[in-house]
Amino acid sequence: KKTVLTGITTSGTPHIGNYLGAIKPAINASQNDAFQSFFFLADYHALIKCQDPARVAQSSREIAATWLALGLDTDKATFYRQTDIPQITELSWILSCLTSKGLMNRAHAYKASVDANRDAGNPDLDDGVTMGLFSYPVLMAADILMFNADIVPVGKDQIQHIEMARDVAGRFNHAYEPLFALPEAQVDEATQLIPGLDGRKMSKSYDNTIPLFCSSDQLRKLINQIVTDIKAPGEPKDPDNSTLFQLYSLFANEQEASVMRQRFLEGIGWGDAKKELFEFLDSQLTQPRNRYNELMNDLGTVEAILQKGAEKAKAVSEPFMEKVRIAAGIRPLN
Ligand code: TYM
Repeated sequence: KKTVLTGITTSGTPHIGNYLGAIKPAINASQNDAFQSFFFLADYHALIKCQDPARVAQSSREIAATWLALGLDTDKATFYRQTDIPQITELSWILSCLTSKGLMNRAHAYKASVDANRDAGNPDLDDGVTMGLFSYPVLMAADILMFNADIVPVGKDQIQHIEMARDVAGRFNHAYEPLFALPEAQVDEATQLIPGLDGRKMSKSYDNTIPLFCSSDQLRKLINQIVTDIKAPGEPKDPDNSTLFQLYSLFANEQEASVMRQRFLEGIGWGDAKKELFEFLDSQLTQPRNRYNELMNDLGTVEAILQKGAEKAKAVSEPFMEKVRIAAGIRPLN
């Protein structure tokens, strides 16, 4: 069986970009009996950008409840918190010792910080860069390699990290024993980069997200904020350059999308397009949103599921880590 694995950083409220780019393809794959799947809350990753303990704890609950509300079958998939699996951080250290600094210098998140300092005229290009941020891709490689993932469903922004994980796996296999599978990113052209309210990538850091399970009222308000061009009602609209159409079509079936495409070409007004998108999304999200709200009021159930997931994950990671230790010449624990 091929292994599918993906994680979400617990530093914010899950949004439509996370859902379409990662959670939906992951849940779809987990329903296929040809795969075994591992999905997790990347709470160690959250500490890199968020030092607000209440936020990290709340985000973990929200992200866990989101996967469950969307119908993840936790009898089939292994669903866990990264921090419940100590072998991941152990592996991360061993991988660090094989990872060249030059490779990490090229990581997008690190480079973005350096560029921001340079643009601001700050002579200390590493100002504000922690070791956590710098070695983030090593921890992510450990997440992936610990469970020998073959396929990693993600959005475009994560592709580089999965290539780095392959590189690191190759170095370990070469230096010691070929213990690690080489993972591949699974990215879908249509969903790899979901735009946010302002048309840039939907992202917590741009403050342009639509939370997947916000209230109906908030959903309406946010959709009304989506940036459009200045074409008047009656003028043909370009569906392929419209965030409104893109979001609509990703929730719609083919036929519904083609009807809406036609309406764009025929000059639907932006106000109407927003109203249609709101009503459509709201109707699709009502049921999982209700389930989400129930789970957020029943956190004991969520916690019990995560505990069970941790046990399942450790049944893999504990014996595997013994092999890694032996391969590296370190005494196994048992
Ligand atoms: P994170 O938490 O930023 O995002 C979670 C997932 O959502 C995808 N995504 C998007 N996809 C399409 N359009 C968007 N606008 C959009 N915004 C976010 C991301 O690409 C990602 O797949 N480092 C990772 C979490 C992580 C991980 C892993 C992922 C830690 N370890 C191991 C896979 C495997 C992150 O910060 O994703």
